This record gives sequence, C-alpha cells and structure tokens, in this order.
Amino acid sequence: MNKEAKLDLDGKIYSLPTITGTEGEKAIDIASLRASSGYITLDDGYGNTGSCSSKITFIDGDKGILRYRGIPIEELAEKSSFIETAYLIIYGQLPNRNQLRDYSELFSVHQFLHEDMKYHFESFPTGAHPMAILSAMINATSCFDEGLMNWHWGKANSHFHNYAAKLMSQVRTIAAYAYRKSQGLPLIYPKKSYKYTANFLHMMFSTPYEDYDIKPEVVKALDLLFLLHADHEQNCSTSTVRMVASAQANLFASASAGVCALWGPLHGGANQAVLEMLDEIHRTGDDGSKFISAAKDKNSGKKLMGFGHRVYKNYDPRAKIIKKACDDVLAQLHINDPLLDIAKHLEQAALNDSYFIERKLYPNVDFYSGIIMRSLGIPVGMFPVMFAIGRMPGWIANYKEIMEDPKSRICRPRQVYVGEPLRHYIPLEQRK
Ligand code: SDX
Repeated sequence: MNKEAKLDLDGKIYSLPTITGTEGEKAIDIASLRASSGYITLDDGYGNTGSCSSKITFIDGDKGILRYRGIPIEELAEKSSFIETAYLIIYGQLPNRNQLRDYSELFSVHQFLHEDMKYHFESFPTGAHPMAILSAMINATSCFDEGLMNWHWGKANSHFHNYAAKLMSQVRTIAAYAYRKSQGLPLIYPKKSYKYTANFLHMMFSTPYEDYDIKPEVVKALDLLFLLHADHEQNCSTSTVRMVASAQANLFASASAGVCALWGPLHGGANQAVLEMLDEIHRTGDDGSKFISAAKDKNSGKKLMGFGHRVYKNYDPRAKIIKKACDDVLAQLHINDPLLDIAKHLEQAALNDSYFIERKLYPNVDFYSGIIMRSLGIPVGMFPVMFAIGRMPGWIANYKEIMEDPKSRICRPRQVYVGEPLRHYIPLEQRK
C-alpha cells in the first residue's frame, strides 16, 4: 500500500495519494488537489513534474542508467540494431525472426513518397534548413493519405502498425530528399535491395549514374547513432508529441510537432551547435580554455554545448558509448579529426573545473555524436535530422502509449495569472 502525502494548508490537512514506479521512483498524485483545496502546483519547466506513467524507457540520472523496455542501452548498443530496437521500443518486446523480417519488409513497402510530394521539395529555397523541410513534409504526408486526413484513433489503431512503419520508412526518404534539395542535387529514389540505414545513405549520397560505396563500418556507426537516440522518456520533443497526440491529432502531425521541438539548440539542435562550437575554437586557435571561461560567464550568452542535462547529473551513458565509437570509426576510416582532440580536451578541462563539477554538468548525447556524423560525410545542418530519424521510434511508442490509455485526456495545463487586474476599454481618442 503506498503512503499518503499530507498537505497542511489554510488550517486544513489534505491527504494526497503517492505512487511508486518499477524502479522505486516516487510521485505524489495531485489529481484531486485543485478540487479539494483550490490550489494548483507550479513548476516552471516541469523539472519536478511527471506528465504521465510510462512503460517505455527508464532513466536514472544520478546513476547514469538508460534502459529501453528494461534492457540496458549498453547491451542494445553492442548486440542489437536500430530496427530491432525500434520494434522493442514500439511494441514492448524484441521481435522474433519472422516479426523482424516482416517489419523490415514493411519499410520497403512504404519507402516511396507519393510522387506528387516531390514537387513540394521544389518550392523550398536552396539552403533551407532540412529540419524545416522535414517537419513540413512529414505533416504534408497527411494531404496525400486518406487515412491520415480522416484520422480517428478508434478506426486508425487497427492500421497503426502500418502507419508506424510508413512514418519510420518515409522519414528517411524525406530527410534524404531535403538534403539533396538543399544541395541542388537530383532526388535519389530508395532501393529495396538496401536495408534501413544503408538505404538512407544511398538516397543521401548516390548519384543517378553510380551507387554510393556503402561501407559496412559507416552503416554500423550510423545505425548505432540512430539506436542511441531512439527514445529518452519525457524529453521536450517527446512531451510535445504526447501533447499533440492527446488532442487526437494523427501520428504524422504529432511527429511533425516533435521535429519542431527537437530543432531547438538546447535540445536536438545541440549536436549541430557542438560542431559549430568546436569549429569556432579550432579556427580561433583557442585551446578551449577561452571558450570554457565564456561558458561560465552568464553574460557571454555562450554555453558549453553538448554539456549538461535536465536528468543526467552523471555521465550520459550514450555519450560514453559514442565517445568510444568516435575513436573506432575514425580509426576504421583513417580520419584524424582535430575537432575530436579539441572535444576531448574540453571534456577533461570541464570535468576538472569547479563550475561544471558543482552543477553536475557532464557530456550528453550531443557532445561527440557530431564528430562521428561528420566523419561519415553527413553535413552539419543534417545533424538534428539524424537525431529526428533516430528518435522516431520513441515518438511513435509514446504516441501509441497515450492513445491506447483509456484514461488519457487532452493535455491542458493550468497557470497562475500574474497580469493586469480587471480594467476597462479606453476609446482611442481618450488614450494618451
Ligand atoms: C538533449 O531531455 C532530454 O532527455 C534531452 C535529450 C534527449 O535524448 O531527448 O537527452 C537530448 O537535448 C541533450 C541536451 C542537449 N543540449 C545541450 O547540450 C545544450 C547545452 N546544455 C544546456 O543548455 C542545459 O544543460 C540543458 C538545456 C541541457 C539543461 O538545462 P536545465 O536542466 O534547465 O539546466 P539549467 O539551465 O537550469 O542549468 C543549471 C545550471 C545553470 O547555472 P546556474 O544558474 O545554476 O548558475 O548549470 C548551468 C546553467 O547556467 N549550465 C551550463 C550548461 N548547462 C547548464 N553552463 C554552461 N554550459 C552548459 N552547457
């Protein structure tokens, strides 16, 4: 039996139920608070507020633990693939051989966009940011799909598997087309003969005359990055997807909103910001110490991008895996990237600096990921797009979870109003 929380307020004692999660996380259920006491709670940035109960991902920020459906990220990174892990995250269990084969087959079935969608790519200016194109074109898919246009969860959930696979498959095609458009290059169509990640690289880098030389080590490295980004409980973009889903918007509209939230430099846009930061340090000949001083100075407007996390107050387990993969991939590709040396120096300097130690600021998933993506030939502007492709299974799983919850309601937070008290309209001629 869970304990009760007692709230002593205005001479009355209110009892609030508590709940305890699988791993011992504790929460006070305040659902009855407003009706019984007239009070709401206030928590700017939701740092102390749980928006839902979820079975998908578990994070322990103090211990640096991350598990998808109970399986540690380290095991999945070593033994699984992005598509197998995506299935686990969305459906709750690792797929058997037939399920994995059928799931991969669905990606081939859905890999082409509606042919008329390619004209939309023509309307974007060369140099348009691919995240703007990605969110627009994911949402535009609804215009070419009757089922999405007339989406109703009661009917749609029997086709959910199909729509989830369509979104997973087409996010690659749209991303690759966005890149090709931004470079003024002809679109390259997907090929059934290529598996998920290889097909994406083919659409990104092949020419109409010659297929891109798809190296296994490049596919493995990008597949690992997608896997490591696949879900991360109620982060900003996933919470956005759940917020939009709660209004019963269709799956693609909800994912499109997730892309917009992810684009922010404090969130998924950080991997691009890290590379730009490392490049600035390299170009100015700074050994990193000047930048670290600026990052500690509130008035500088600079932050050590790729460092810090709302939940991890320890090393982000994904950053550990990516840092090691950096060394492996650059060695396999015979690349010596000075930015990796700068990143490692920055990390060592920061981890020994009291400012970062006191605030428990460690490298997060974005600190080293850009260096790998750069070594694979992915342009910096596409880094947040790689994050979006990787995060798609997490968004889909959270969409499914909230839609299947019979108790779920439209998300509609309260507020505390601190504006003007009652006042009345002043006709124009009387205004000063
Ligand atoms: C992702 O939520 C997720 O799970 C996200 C993610 C996922 O998988 O979905 O893990 C992906 O978004 C990773 C984070 C990527 N963003 C960055 O790397 C941008 C740089 N980091 C910071 O902007 C910041 O650390 C956040 C946004 C990540 C977290 O912000 P919080 O939790 O609101 O922390 P805060 O801003 O309140 O910081 C606490 C203190 C402040 O100093 P004081 O006011 O206490 O003196 O730490 C300082 C901050 O100024 N601080 C930093 C810093 N991060 C925090 N100072 C310098 N450089 C930094 N990077």
